[in-house]
Amino acid sequence: MKSLIDILDFSVEELQDLVDTAMQIIQFPLAYADRCHGKKLATLFYEPSTRTRLSFEAAMLELGGQVLGFSEPSSSSAAKGESVSDTARMISCYADIMAMRHPMAGAPYVASRSASIPVINAGDGGHHHPTQTLADLLTIYREHGRFDHLTVGLCGDLKYGRTVHSLIAALSRYPGNRFILISPEELKVPEYVREDSLDPYPVPFEETEDLEKAIPELDILYMTRIQRERFEDLSRYEALKDSYILTPDKLKYAKEEMRILHPLPRVNEISVAVDADPRAKYFEQALNGKYMRMALILKLLEESAWDHLPSPEPKDLIRGEHICRNPRCIVSTEQELPHLFYRTEHGQYRCFYCDLAEGQ
Ligand code: NCD
Repeated sequence: MKSLIDILDFSVEELQDLVDTAMQIIQFPLAYADRCHGKKLATLFYEPSTRTRLSFEAAMLELGGQVLGFSEPSSSSAAKGESVSDTARMISCYADIMAMRHPMAGAPYVASRSASIPVINAGDGGHHHPTQTLADLLTIYREHGRFDHLTVGLCGDLKYGRTVHSLIAALSRYPGNRFILISPEELKVPEYVREDSLDPYPVPFEETEDLEKAIPELDILYMTRIQRERFEDLSRYEALKDSYILTPDKLKYAKEEMRILHPLPRVNEISVAVDADPRAKYFEQALNGKYMRMALILKLLEESAWDHLPSPEPKDLIRGEHICRNPRCIVSTEQELPHLFYRTEHGQYRCFYCDLAEGQ
């Protein structure tokens, strides 16, 4: 059974197929208006969301399907202590496909192990957010017409910003791309993102704190908000929250063809005055998210029609020898889950659910 947990679950060819389908949907919406007749999407949102949940729901409705679900864990059995596995198993009786957002890294993966319908990761803690990457990719495609040979600046909270992790993983696979990672020292991309997505190919990247210096080089500037809800010490959030504020002034030295993206919501990292700049594409990006989610729902439902087998667990997982102590990993709240680890090329052991190394 195909699910989307990590953007790398799709090959570059599959991503291109999704983009092509989304472009067809944009051109011929009526041809798709009935494609999911009689099908139901469940949205299980254990964390706040506006765009992701509503664009999933709009996507299913525009395909002629129906939606059910919850947008607050307090209104579901999670409030009574039900495990993600049990919830996912039960939702499989009521819906044909589910989208899950959860504050704990790895929760949608755990759901996919016990569900008998496709599971879509709609954001798991500070870990991954593959469907935002789908929205980002369609925007890049519509604006630049390609996914390669781009200089991409990612700015803001690169540590906890899950959209950044998934986007780097996706774009690293295309030739000629280069990243400029712009963040305060404390909010640099996690080690696993660097080791898995940047080091192996290898993809050229540099890290800097200086947004203004980087701007003239960029084809894409991807702004992100500092993720208040992921900070253990809120005084650190207060100290960092105004690290970057994009203003029309700073854009004076940007290329004409540079595009400004942001997964939204914005807090104050892009001044409202930038919205009028023709290079600002973040609202279009939100719309593109709906088209890509339509393409995704179609793909996963079509594939699940002939594939009922659970996906095999990746080989080489180590059970019972290591313990993940990350308080934001799903194993910390669901005690019955086995601790699963894998060994990296550098001999480090990393938790399979959250990708943090043992002891981090
Ligand atoms: C992002 C998320 O939830 O990670 N929002 C979204 O899905 N569009 C970005 C964010 O919350 O900062």
